[in-house]
Amino acid sequence: MKLLEGKVAIITGAARGIGEAVALKFAEQGAHIAFSYVSDSSADKAAALVEKLNALGVKAKAYKSNAADYVACESFVNEVIAEFNQIDICVNNAGISKDNLLLRMTPEQWNDVIQVNLNSVFNMTKQVIKPMMKAKNGSIINMSSVIGEMGNAGQSSYAASKAGVIGFTKSIAKELGSRNVRCNAIAPGFVETDMTSYLNDGDGADKYKSLIPLGKFASGEDIANVCLFLASNLSSYVTGQTISACGGMNI
Ligand code: NAI
Repeated sequence: MKLLEGKVAIITGAARGIGEAVALKFAEQGAHIAFSYVSDSSADKAAALVEKLNALGVKAKAYKSNAADYVACESFVNEVIAEFNQIDICVNNAGISKDNLLLRMTPEQWNDVIQVNLNSVFNMTKQVIKPMMKAKNGSIINMSSVIGEMGNAGQSSYAASKAGVIGFTKSIAKELGSRNVRCNAIAPGFVETDMTSYLNDGDGADKYKSLIPLGKFASGEDIANVCLFLASNLSSYVTGQTISACGGMNI
């Protein structure tokens, strides 16, 4: 029996990285997938992912939609409901970093990160809870970060956005628990994606790996497995939690 048979999942920013791994994992477990990507340069990757998902025997569709734009999220979710009839799972995955020491950080850099990483979670969650409340069923999964728990020099905007996601997650869990809509967050450590590709320059990777008890970075699939747990009924009594998937670097 597949864990997500017949469920519909909506995922933001899934043309690559963790989002792509989550889409593939969910599809392997029988979920139909609607996902967004933001830039024209991702269109080919998005189309290739749709093909891979279809090959797994599920329905899949890519939408060009900016998760940081409230009105765009409203249209995105409405189009998905019209096409797929329901939304059971929402993964708020889209995220960026614009790292800088506070002394050098510009208001634009700060605002961009908050807009994409935190406001997008509000934009999407506000829309998806409508069908979920009606169905008295839903799982919302927000991508936070170990940096949101620990902070990091040079990452104040990223840390603030990801800490904000954790507070939002707990509040929504309290608001919607009685409707059987669960809301949880994942706090990954370093994951090998485009976002962290700079770590492989020079000896940066070894320095960071020495801080991680498991001694390695995560793969997208490592994080997708945690997502699968939170999306499925295996976590039916889990809400408002932040699951750290950081190889132990927060201990
Ligand atoms: P990535 O850069 O490979 O992928 C991020 C995706 O989000 C891209 O496809 C990008 O186009 C999309 N995106 C960016 N802005 C968007 C917007 N406004 N609307 C829609 N899509 C947008 O990064 P990765 O590593 O896959 O990150 C996924 C999530 O995981 C992010 O929220 C990130 O902050 C978080 N994360 C990543 C970690 C890592 O080490 N890679 C660690 C902890 C958290």
